[in-house]
Amino acid sequence: MRKRIVAGNWKMNMLPNEAIHFIEELTPLVKDTKNEVILCVPYTDLFYAILTAQNTNIKIGAQNMHFEDKGAYTGEVSGEMLKSINVEYVIIGHSERRQYFNETDETVNKKIKSAFKYGLKPIVCVGETLEQREEGIAEEVITKQTELALAGLSDEQVKNTIIAYEPIWAIGTGKTATKEDANNSIRAIRNKIAKIYGQIIADSVIIQYGGSVKSSNAKELFEMSDIDGALVGGASLKADEFSKIVNA
Ligand code: 13P
Repeated sequence: MRKRIVAGNWKMNMLPNEAIHFIEELTPLVKDTKNEVILCVPYTDLFYAILTAQNTNIKIGAQNMHFEDKGAYTGEVSGEMLKSINVEYVIIGHSERRQYFNETDETVNKKIKSAFKYGLKPIVCVGETLEQREEGIAEEVITKQTELALAGLSDEQVKNTIIAYEPIWAIGTGKTATKEDANNSIRAIRNKIAKIYGQIIADSVIIQYGGSVKSSNAKELFEMSDIDGALVGGASLKADEFSKIVNA
C-alpha cells in the first residue's frame, strides 16, 4: 500500500513571520493524519519553517535547487545547502520553472540526481499544456517527461522519487482535471515506469495530482486508485483550508 502525501507549494508567497504563524496554526489541525504532510516554502522561509516544524509531523521542502554542487552560479542554491539546514524535500521541474526559467527535461534530470546525492527527496513535476491535451498528445508528453526525468536513476532512487502530475491548464485556473482524467494520466505515468523499471517499482512510486486542488475536491481525487495525494498551490496558503485537504 502506498502512503498518501499532501504537499503545499507556497510558490512566491509568505514572509518568515507568516510562515511561522501558519505552521503553528496548522500543527494541531493535522497532527492525527496518517498522510504525510509537506510544505514547500520559499528559500527565505526555510530555516524558520524547519525550526517551527520541529517535533511536528510537518516536513519542509524547497521549491527548486541547482544541479551543481557549488560555484559561480549567482543567485542559485545547491542541494548541499538545502541539506545543511535539514530540508528534506525539493520540488523539481515545476511547470512555472519550465515555462519562465528555461528548465528543461535535461536540467530536471540533473537536479534529481543532485538531490539524491545530498539525501533530498525530489517531488518531480510533469504535465501537459492545454494545446497538447487538445491535440491528443497529453499522455505521450507526460510519459516522455517522466522517462527523461528518471533517466539514469537506480531502482532505489526511482522508488524514492515522488512524481506530481500537474496539467498546466489546471494550475491556478480553478479548473481541475476530472478525477477519471487525472487517474488515467497518472496510470499512464505508472505504466511507463513499469515498462522501464518493472511493475514492483512502479507500484511503489508515489504519484500526486496537482492543479486547483481544494478541500471541496480533494476527497474524490484521493479515492481514485492511482492518485496518491496532492501538490497544492493556492489552497495551501490558508492553514484551515490546507488542513481539510490533508484530512480529506
Ligand atoms: P494551484 O493549486 O494553485 O492550482 O497550483 C498547483 C500547483 O502548481 C502546485 O504546484
